[in-house]
Amino acid sequence: MGVKLGILGLGTVGTGTVQLLQDAVGRHPLLQEIEIYRVGVRSLDKSRDVQLQPEVITTDLESIVNDPAVDIVVEVMGGLEPARSLILQAINNGKHVVTANKAAIARFGAEIFTAANQAGVYVMLEAAVGGGIPVIQPLKQALSVNRLHTVTGIVNGTTNYILTRMQTEGSDFGDVLADAQRLGYAEADPTADVDGLDAGDKIAILASLAFDGRINLEDVYCEGIRQVSKTDIAYAEKLGFVIKLLAIAKNQAQDATKLSVRVHPTFVPKTHPLASINGVYNAILVEGEPIGQVMFFGPGAGAGATASAVTSDILSLVAALKSNTTAPNPLLTCRHEEYSHVAPISDLITRFYARFLTKDQAGVIGQLGTCFGNHGVSIESIVQTGFQGELVEIVVVTHDVREGEFRQALAEIQNLSAIDSIPSILRVL
Ligand code: HSE
Repeated sequence: MGVKLGILGLGTVGTGTVQLLQDAVGRHPLLQEIEIYRVGVRSLDKSRDVQLQPEVITTDLESIVNDPAVDIVVEVMGGLEPARSLILQAINNGKHVVTANKAAIARFGAEIFTAANQAGVYVMLEAAVGGGIPVIQPLKQALSVNRLHTVTGIVNGTTNYILTRMQTEGSDFGDVLADAQRLGYAEADPTADVDGLDAGDKIAILASLAFDGRINLEDVYCEGIRQVSKTDIAYAEKLGFVIKLLAIAKNQAQDATKLSVRVHPTFVPKTHPLASINGVYNAILVEGEPIGQVMFFGPGAGAGATASAVTSDILSLVAALKSNTTAPNPLLTCRHEEYSHVAPISDLITRFYARFLTKDQAGVIGQLGTCFGNHGVSIESIVQTGFQGELVEIVVVTHDVREGEFRQALAEIQNLSAIDSIPSILRVL
């Protein structure tokens, strides 16, 4: 007997998934046992790139999650509601769920996984992070034998595309964003991508899996790329760095009592594995003991890539359904229920890059050094090369410092009469 799917949504990901399932030859033989039983859409009038019998398609999404014949609900509609309610309803009806919905999982993961554990069903989310890149399953299974300490990702293709073009063309953010929107690489409302919120959802999910604890999304520090200027990209280049929007989850203590989970534009040394990830691609570097470093690289979005991830989850569920056991597979369930403690950004220990515009007068560099010294900030390098009119540009890279101390030093510097402004502050990996 085949496994019956109820698919919610027939947009880019839903269409890609149906196409993949309808073209099963040459793929895993279990795919041929799957029946696309119901597909829920918003409108019946839209033209579609897939052939489905009319009786398969419905606008009544609730009828899918309530249909006793449906074994697996595949939620690829996106958005928070009604996705959340439909996922919960499917779980309460004893159905396994596959979702690509990072926003819903990052916000309602606790509610969804608690319900799933109570109902004895699985919620699979490979497509929620990194598009086609398998990273959720490795974190839950193969890599979970390691003590992981850091997950560092380029998990948003739109911002990586924009930063890559700014770097190669020497262009401003606004110009590249407008062009990316014209070419369809950036949304008309680019907020979720360029302000780091999409990457924030994704790193919250990765952190919860890597460190076995729920993450409160409000604890994730998010800073986007709107403030990154071509001047900073040029300085990064001179100093041996590239600027990337990194999503970082780091365990700062042995017992995972103090996590740092954050998204921000970052100076990345050119020799770092993530420095060469360009364009719309995603990559996730996972570090732990004893494995060392493992990096996953690939397409972070797109119909085919995301359909690959969704279908791999469906395949895992079909295999579980065929295994003739009612005991939950502990490699597929969510095994954490406690919240992790995420430290405030002021507790972060990092290096900083700061660019100052100052008057061109004696003693300015000395005053900067004194203010930094007053707060225990040690300078790794300081350069003064550029002029902007009457003002000089001084660029400082610090050694590791607690962010709180660094900000106190900046507040003091801001009050110096020789300082005109501090146009940029970026963290350095
Ligand atoms: N908006 C995302 C990105 C793709 O730009 O990477 C889907 O997660």
